[in-house]
Amino acid sequence: MSEPQFTKVSPKYWEEKWDKRKIGFHRSHMDNLWEEGHTIIGVECVRSALEEFFEEQSIKYTVSDLQNIEGSLFTSEDKRIRLYCCDLFKFNSDFEGKMDAVWDRGSLVAINKDERQRYSENLTNLLSPDCRYLLETLEYDETKYPGPPFYVSEQQVHDLFGDRMNITKLERVDSLEERHQSWGIDSLFENLFLMTLK
Ligand SMILES: C[S@@+](CC[C@H](N)C(=O)[O-])C[C@H]1O[C@@H](n2cnc3c(N)ncnc32)[C@H](O)[C@@H]1O
Repeated sequence: MSEPQFTKVSPKYWEEKWDKRKIGFHRSHMDNLWEEGHTIIGVECVRSALEEFFEEQSIKYTVSDLQNIEGSLFTSEDKRIRLYCCDLFKFNSDFEGKMDAVWDRGSLVAINKDERQRYSENLTNLLSPDCRYLLETLEYDETKYPGPPFYVSEQQVHDLFGDRMNITKLERVDSLEERHQSWGIDSLFENLFLMTLK
């Protein structure tokens, strides 16, 4: 069987997806984390995606340029949502300190395979000692659809994070939807892992 040809993704690739509205991953609901008093920090390289987020949620915001890297910071009026418009590989704990919780949805699965090691190191360096890191991955036959979003095996989660994190698999959910038919796959599972620092 021939090897799958993996698309090389980049901030430019994702910008085109947002421009052409090829964003089947997008969910317009907001979870109620910040209503519970948390500050939400996010990183997204496509500016229009961040503008859309605030408009969709009817949240007033301001935008400022970042000092040290190319990019901007979108801050909600109450300052409890702070979304960085920049390449996530340039984001580190100098910006916002350490995170108490991470929700990794559509992130590890949206970067190139050869960037995963650097990604896991960067992310792990962002965590406070008690941080709870929720990671969502996708499981499907990558010989039928090479991504993105890319397939990340359970073994790879352990290879990437296992040295520094305890990893518990919380659930495996059948997530095949109508929109996935065009991918040519006949099964798709979402795996959810809870990770904490060792
Ligand atoms: C599959 S989508 C998931 C978006 C969102 N996390 C969600 O769950 O709906 C991946 C997102 O990551 C952004 N992205 C991809 N590569 C990035 C990078 N290097 N730095 C920052 N954002 C990036 C894309 O623009 C896209 O909006």
